[in-house]
Amino acid sequence: MKIAIFASGGGSNFQAIADACESGHIPGQVVLCVVSRADAGVIQRAERMGIPQVVLQGSTAEWAPAVLKQLEEASVDLIVLAGFMKMIPMALIGRFPRRILNIHPALLPNFGGKGMYGMHVHEAVIAAGESESGATVHLVDQDYDTGPIVAQSRVPVLANDNAEDLAVRVLKAEHVLYPDVIRAFAENRVRVSGTHITIDPPRP
Ligand code: GRF
Repeated sequence: MKIAIFASGGGSNFQAIADACESGHIPGQVVLCVVSRADAGVIQRAERMGIPQVVLQGSTAEWAPAVLKQLEEASVDLIVLAGFMKMIPMALIGRFPRRILNIHPALLPNFGGKGMYGMHVHEAVIAAGESESGATVHLVDQDYDTGPIVAQSRVPVLANDNAEDLAVRVLKAEHVLYPDVIRAFAENRVRVSGTHITIDPPRP
């Protein structure tokens, strides 16, 4: 399975996924790293691993056709958003039906939507007095954080946690959950029926 990762930040999820491909945990290959900012830390990670990078230029109307062409030329099967801070245009969603994933650092459908990104999410979880948070992998549709949920991983919120403490714990959970879900896609173990998604256990 050929994977394109879209990112805008430090790229720790990019790293976890690329490492899982290299180790054979995911039977796939990261063939493209699409980046929305020229100063994103993920670029150095991609360079170190010899993965080609594309830095988006101009408006969505300008970059969407160019990126679509690159995805097609690289025969990409799965698009993985990992801290990507731009909306995915309909043209891409239409071309990769049920083949675009995102990870969100909370238990959707709670604590998602516009403005819910980065530390805002963890601050909101703590302010709400939740005893649990986690990470959610979902399919991408044309809105923020609303596509069908594929899998979740839960972590506790501890009594004296601040947003940074919680962010570290959730990010660690993401680095396990995301490669596991991508592995399930690569192994054809994901069943989609309408908005209901189940993952079969790994085959022995
Ligand atoms: C993660 O917390 C992810 O849930 C969110 O953006 C962050 C990306 O972190 N969508 P990184 O760039 O992978 O380290």
